[in-house]
Amino acid sequence: MDVPQIFRNNREWIREKQSSDPEYFHNLSKGQNPEFLYIGCSDSRVTAEELMGVKPGQAFIHRNIANMVPNTDLSSQSVVTYAARYLKVKHIVVCGHYYCNGVKAAMQSADLGLLNPWLRNIRDVYRLHHAELDAIPGEEERYKRLVELNVEEQCINVSKTAAVQQAYLEKRMTVHGWVFDIHSGELIDLKIDLDRIMAGIREIYRLM
Ligand code: CO
Repeated sequence: MDVPQIFRNNREWIREKQSSDPEYFHNLSKGQNPEFLYIGCSDSRVTAEELMGVKPGQAFIHRNIANMVPNTDLSSQSVVTYAARYLKVKHIVVCGHYYCNGVKAAMQSADLGLLNPWLRNIRDVYRLHHAELDAIPGEEERYKRLVELNVEEQCINVSKTAAVQQAYLEKRMTVHGWVFDIHSGELIDLKIDLDRIMAGIREIYRLM
């Protein structure tokens, strides 16, 4: 794939869209009203819209290395706040994926420079759950479980924000933790019971 090919693809895409709906781009330009915020990994194999089968306008998307929502990261915090407060999305999804190189890198003893503070958030997830993780015999299964636990922790981080707490009070939002299995293409709902998890810690993070 070279750069000119990408522009040819774009012109072909415009032709396709307009042949089925001449007003397609005009309608897109009117605004967005997505019901989903999807927070996923930047991994090139984990394409947000394609794996969910959503069209332009249906999902607000944020992607970074290992689908993180660190409490001091202005980018993801701004995305969550904008989506919850102004777009008023009904669902926030944190979607991890098995075979995540970000999660794997975080588990190795290597100095990765600027990536260190980012990946340290995943090391902290490991520390929080080290008893469970250390008891898993196989390395691949341990990584997979860490991917799931990282999703859970990022769902908790989403729930710590003022905008999401407000949305919860107004009963207009649900937070979901999902995992995409690259090996099968399957999207898996981890069925994270955030109400149960937050029940014990909600008072600590309550802002209103
Ligand atoms: Co990844």
